[in-house]
Amino acid sequence: VAYSRFVRWLALPAIAAHASLSSLKADRLLKAAVVLKAGLISDLQFEAHLKRYFATCLPGVYEELGLAERRRALLDSPHPYKIALVRAGDSEADHPSLWQRRLAVVRGLGVRLDLMTLAAEEGIEPHGHSAVVSGFLVLEGEVRGRTFDRLDAQPGRWLVRKNFDHLMRQGAFLTSAEWSSNIHWLNGIAARSFLLRVTVSGFPTRRFDSSFHSERVHIDLSACPNGCEPFWARVSEEPGSE
Ligand SMILES: [Fe+2]
Repeated sequence: VAYSRFVRWLALPAIAAHASLSSLKADRLLKAAVVLKAGLISDLQFEAHLKRYFATCLPGVYEELGLAERRRALLDSPHPYKIALVRAGDSEADHPSLWQRRLAVVRGLGVRLDLMTLAAEEGIEPHGHSAVVSGFLVLEGEVRGRTFDRLDAQPGRWLVRKNFDHLMRQGAFLTSAEWSSNIHWLNGIAARSFLLRVTVSGFPTRRFDSSFHSERVHIDLSACPNGCEPFWARVSEEPGSE
């Protein structure tokens, strides 16, 4: 169903109300995302919700989100990278579950759940975001995850400091928000790893660097020290979002 953005916005209060009656963990997360979109909680408060979700969603997340079917569909694609759990244009017939229908409506407003995969040597290049909360939960395999805080901004460069650098296995997660661990960088270590990614974009917030208008910002970390000392890194706008 091709809902307009306006209709999707109109549906938000009902989605939040119905999601609060659900016992599904995914619905509680969806409700928090809607409340963030409405500007009623901060991105840091939503990030805390997301951390709680990631910390408690295993092992039921496979069943609750139908991940086995999505995993098969992802591996069937010629170059497996990511697959949406629910697409914005899906019809009701595609999604028997209520949480899927709710997610199909809010996906068009920047609330996205995806299953991602990385082979060994594959990675997600370091980047930052503007007005986005996102997170990755490792479901299978092993990845190296790094995040950096942004400390200061000058035209075309940010002062950043590494605050997380770990080998991550099942149950490990990282999250990023406007003012915390904004920059993330992932590399596949196991022959094949699977991750659940949650992204919410387009909510009211005070921006760290208002000179960027796209959601995603490329950062050159080639001068990154091994330790956690702050250093200046060049940044450039990437058109569109990931
Ligand atoms: Fe990202």
